[in-house]
Amino acid sequence: MSTTRCVLQYAALAQKQIMMLAATVVLVAGLCATTVHALAAPLSTETRACLACHDKPMVKQFEGAEPVSLRISTQAYLDSMHAATACEDCHADVDPKTHAKVSSPFKSRRELSMSMRDLCRTCHTKKFTQYEDSVHAALVREGSKTAPLCSDCHNPHTVRQGKVAEPIASTPCARCHQDIFKAYSQDVHGQQRAGGSTAAPLCANCHQAHAVKAASLGDGVKKACLSCHQGAVAAHSQWLPNAGRHFEAISCPACHAPDAQRRVNLRLYDLAKDRQVSEKVGVPQFTRLTDAADTKDMGLDERALWSLLKEFNRNGEEGRTSLRGRLEVNSGVQAHQMSDASTAIRDCKVCHQSGAAPFQSVSLTIAGPDGRPLRHGIQSDVLKSLTSMESVRGFYAIGSTRIVLLDRLLVLVLLGSISVPLGHLALKRLFRSARERLEAERLAAQTPNKEGLDHE
Ligand code: HEC
Ligand code: HEC
Ligand code: HEC
Ligand code: HEC
Ligand code: HEC
Ligand code: HEC
Ligand code: HEC
Ligand code: HEC
Ligand code: HEC
Repeated sequence: MSTTRCVLQYAALAQKQIMMLAATVVLVAGLCATTVHALAAPLSTETRACLACHDKPMVKQFEGAEPVSLRISTQAYLDSMHAATACEDCHADVDPKTHAKVSSPFKSRRELSMSMRDLCRTCHTKKFTQYEDSVHAALVREGSKTAPLCSDCHNPHTVRQGKVAEPIASTPCARCHQDIFKAYSQDVHGQQRAGGSTAAPLCANCHQAHAVKAASLGDGVKKACLSCHQGAVAAHSQWLPNAGRHFEAISCPACHAPDAQRRVNLRLYDLAKDRQVSEKVGVPQFTRLTDAADTKDMGLDERALWSLLKEFNRNGEEGRTSLRGRLEVNSGVQAHQMSDASTAIRDCKVCHQSGAAPFQSVSLTIAGPDGRPLRHGIQSDVLKSLTSMESVRGFYAIGSTRIVLLDRLLVLVLLGSISVPLGHLALKRLFRSARERLEAERLAAQTPNKEGLDHE
């Protein structure tokens, strides 16, 4: 190929669609010369040939999008965990005969990335399998243009050792979940982490990096919390009756983000499988039914809720679908505003009192096809009014098992709302057995201590 022909071809290409920042002459030298500058040892000849062009400031202008840099830094590549991997191992599609001469078929950076989506599987099978099971991968399969592929969290040309994420802003999650990152970086864990403690969690320690699941699915991230705070159940039991039950019914941030707003989430539950009911892909049953039952869009009332449940049971097997309540914070940002334990909610009255704020906001959820909740508002009276007790019995009949949690939520709120003195009496009775048990435990705990002292 003569240099002149090469220059002409290249110039035509550049005019058509590529904006070259580097001097064209220099680039063309790289394109056409048979010798390339010798680079550091481990890179193969082919890789060096690619870098001769690509380690120059060059951008590609996709239609209607920000220009994308095509520059690959040789030094960063050499420093990366992929230094021993040749460009061609990943870019087998690049045909030297046509490359840079014929415009590539991709209309966006995302299209290019998507075309290479399965690539990492070859060498990182385990991570790939984990990722395939994540909410992010489900979103990608649904057609999301913003959910991350492997290469959105790991630049394949600069990957460093996975565990390194200093400063905290270099965690890949920060780029897309900016509001949550901002909240996190100021909360009790973010501050610890920023202060240099690697014992405090980054996003992936609570959510995992690859098998990321919808945060409010199942127990949420409770297991992750308790894996670090192993003494938490015992510590809370010192003052909170049946702490284990509270942990099931209340998400940790509902008490540990004291300024957050709280809400009751009534989750549709599959009693037979003991997990949340999830919407099947392509069958928007939940939205269809809730919209039909709530034409005025004021939130479902008790009657509507009752017939909705009946409907769900009609479609599946009898008596399988029920409700389970959970107290949560109102938004993802608020879930990352946890502060020092001394500020956490300890006052029983925040929840166990007439008109308690957390019970004024109620929603019904089903797990969407990717696990994220689909919501519909419920009128808060449903938890309060006496007649709703009747509908709740209806739920029991349909569910055929008692719905312990909903029952308690109702009883607690009802007790408060009937009359204050009666509420207090009943609450006292409710708590008495727990307090007696605690007292007994405390006495039991003190006795061996005393004996220990006596022996010394
Ligand atoms: C002669 C210089 C040159 C060489 C050598 C070269 N490239 Fe390119 N490369 C380009 C130019 C110019 C573009 C922009 C082409 C376009 O707009 O489609 C490009 C685009 C790309 C893209 C973006 C793909 C796309 O379709 O938009 C990839 C990936 C790439 N090159 C990889 C490589 C690899 C791997 C090698 C070595 C095997 C290599 N290049 C060698 C000049 C070069
Ligand atoms: C481990 C696999 C892997 C290796 C090795 C690799 N690439 Fe890539 N490269 C990718 C993937 C995946 C993309 C898709 C774009 C993205 O999402 O980053 C890409 C994109 C590109 C692009 C388009 C610009 C960009 O950053 O998206 C260029 C240019 C490129 N690679 C060049 C190279 C060159 C030159 C080498 C060798 C020095 C190389 N690549 C080695 C996986 C690899
Ligand atoms: C949402 C962001 C995200 C996505 C998507 C992602 N990763 Fe990761 N990956 C991380 C984070 C964060 C770490 C480091 C922390 C960890 O290992 O838990 C990591 C670590 C790794 C490691 C090093 C593991 C180790 O044991 O040190 C490999 C290899 C890896 N990822 C490969 C992949 C592959 C392959 C894909 C695509 C199937 C992928 N990642 C998708 C965020 C992501
Ligand atoms: C041709 C094989 C190959 C392909 C394809 C490949 N990698 Fe790698 N990758 C490696 C090797 C080899 C290492 C070196 C460290 C190791 O043994 O894990 C590595 C290391 C990594 C690490 C750092 C692991 C650590 O221990 O911290 C990440 C992250 C990573 N790769 C991500 C990716 C992503 C994302 C893709 C797809 C775009 C990809 N890799 C494709 C071979 C490959
Ligand atoms: C490239 C952008 C991108 C990156 C990087 C990314 N995410 Fe996501 N993530 C999304 C999108 C888009 C959604 C779906 C919209 C939403 O729920 O915010 C999502 C959803 C989620 C969800 C489910 C939300 C719910 O309702 O429960 C969690 C949890 C999550 N991401 C955690 C992470 C973690 C942890 C990381 C880092 C390891 C990360 N994400 C990195 C784009 C990203
Ligand atoms: C990777 C381990 C890890 C995970 C996971 C984790 N934490 Fe922590 N947490 C820490 C460390 C380290 C500190 C700071 C040192 C300390 O006070 O124990 C901390 C501090 C706290 C504090 C403040 C304690 C105090 O004495 O003021 C609370 C409250 C807390 N974590 C709650 C949670 C909750 C709730 C979760 C789950 C949503 C969670 N943590 C997940 C490690 C973790
Ligand atoms: C009903 C409200 C409430 C709930 C729910 C709750 N906490 Fe707490 N937590 C508190 C209060 C109040 C304190 C401070 C206790 C004290 O000062 O003795 C505390 C203290 C802590 C501490 C510091 C003391 C210790 O245990 O070492 C950690 C860590 C903690 N909680 C983690 C959790 C985790 C993890 C969850 C969820 C599984 C959770 N908390 C759920 C109210 C709650
Ligand atoms: C200490 C553990 C912990 C850490 C660290 C953490 N999260 Fe979360 N995250 C949670 C909890 C708890 C929830 C709420 C789950 C629930 O409903 O019970 C949550 C919820 C989410 C959600 C869902 C929000 C929604 O709209 O429902 C996303 C997305 C998310 N986190 C992303 C991140 C990202 C990104 C980071 C890092 C910047 C991060 N998380 C760090 C514990 C953590
Ligand atoms: C953040 C809200 C909240 C706070 C604060 C709270 N509770 Fe509860 N509590 C609940 C919810 C929700 C339930 C329902 C759990 C269930 O159905 O088992 C519950 C259940 C109970 C039960 C019945 C537990 C069982 O054995 O099934 C008792 C007793 C109780 N709470 C006492 C207290 C006392 C005493 C305090 C203060 C030290 C307190 N709670 C603080 C929300 C709260």
